[in-house]
Amino acid sequence: MDETSFDKKSTEFSKNLAVDVVKKLLVFENLDSTNRTAKDLARGGAEEGTVVLAQTQSKGRGRFDRVWQSPKGGVYVSFILRPHIAPEKVSLLPIGAALVVAKTIESYGLHPTIKWPNDVRVNRKKIAGILLESEIKTDTIDFVIVGIGMNLNIDSCTLSADIRVRSTSMKSETGAEVEYYEFLRRFFKEFDEFYHRFTKQQHSKILQEWKSYSDTLGKEIRIQTSTESIQGTAFDVDQSGFLLLKTEKGEIKKILSGDCLYLDELDHT
Ligand code: BTN
Repeated sequence: MDETSFDKKSTEFSKNLAVDVVKKLLVFENLDSTNRTAKDLARGGAEEGTVVLAQTQSKGRGRFDRVWQSPKGGVYVSFILRPHIAPEKVSLLPIGAALVVAKTIESYGLHPTIKWPNDVRVNRKKIAGILLESEIKTDTIDFVIVGIGMNLNIDSCTLSADIRVRSTSMKSETGAEVEYYEFLRRFFKEFDEFYHRFTKQQHSKILQEWKSYSDTLGKEIRIQTSTESIQGTAFDVDQSGFLLLKTEKGEIKKILSGDCLYLDELDHT
């Protein structure tokens, strides 16, 4: 897609997109990070449903301050949301976003799985990631930015060698280019359905569905945080999406966040 057709197509797409969760779609050729732009807009008072989309990012950000390589061919999108929920339920948003991505990918005949909390994978390789950033004002949520990066038509040679071995793209998995706007249309429709359910507090249903895609539950895992490493069997997630782990000593641990590594994949994770 050249730049002119990108401009024309994105304007057309925005005009015809009729989903409640996308009130205003802002499309850019390049940004440093859609999350950073969305955060600036949210701090400036942008309404819920403002969505920032970029064709490339020069400083895409991942979890744990990692870099999210963002060449042309990927989808880089950030939602500004202002949900009226208890702050501890915010963790269900990236869980739900992973579900949205998995369902979108599945609609292309692939079999995605989700590694807790929100890495979407196909054939054990990462295809999408989610970065949530939120700001709280006097115990209530001011805004949440749900940033999603999806490897659509990315050729692995455009990624660095370390990322290449553990990631994949829709193009690699389906064997053909996936039409950008058709993918986005399916993705926004799924996100809309999810967000309706989320605002209606249908949290258990969302978690139930998330579990059906999870490749974490039942696995021997290691959780790495900045201060500790915990090993055990992942056996469930609670009502806020926190991971429940049983250690070798039989202790039950509740994991709020951390890097999740599968022991049987330590070379690939
Ligand atoms: C992860 O580490 O798995 C999360 C990656 C999140 C990347 C997306 S791309 C769109 C948005 N903007 C960013 O800078 N990061 C997120």
